[in-house]
Amino acid sequence: MGHPVLRRPAEDVADPTAPEIQALIEDMMETMEDADGAGLAAPQVHVPLRVVIFHVPGERAEDEGDAEAVPLTVLINPLIEPLTEEKALGWEGCLSVPGLIGAVPRFTHIRYSGLAPDGSRIERVAEGFHARVAQHECDHLDGILYPQRMTDLSLLMFREELVRHGAGRADVDEDEGENEDADPDADERVA
Ligand code: NI
Repeated sequence: MGHPVLRRPAEDVADPTAPEIQALIEDMMETMEDADGAGLAAPQVHVPLRVVIFHVPGERAEDEGDAEAVPLTVLINPLIEPLTEEKALGWEGCLSVPGLIGAVPRFTHIRYSGLAPDGSRIERVAEGFHARVAQHECDHLDGILYPQRMTDLSLLMFREELVRHGAGRADVDEDEGENEDADPDADERVA
């Protein structure tokens, strides 16, 4: 947080199939795996291009109350379109904001589109944690980190303290959305 590449809009990728883009994607996958994150954006490895990767493994989809796992997805030049005005609060962490966790309002239902690494077009409708991860990662491409999306900074905490003491409020949030409370064993929810 604070590095210039994370604070400015990233640039469109001209050719998704270019060897340097394939190499970037491989590098991002390794970084995401090392961090055990759900997603990663190219600016987080200091490359100012519009590339994000994310996945929601089956186990996590279950934890987050989402019905379906999301396979590893690479999205180039992505676009997000909210399909509702409704937002829900859920916990997010970020590799670029280490040690912290915050409750962030996100649209509950979106459509996203973009290009795959082979140049084909991807378009999906997403809900719940899937929608959250996509919004978090695409925000990185516009120079936005999750604290900038928060509406209640009393819910920005050190993960360690949240695990130790809880949030002091159970309303992040069962009836508003999907990510109910901080799981003490939770690894990075997003990245
Ligand atoms: Ni992040």
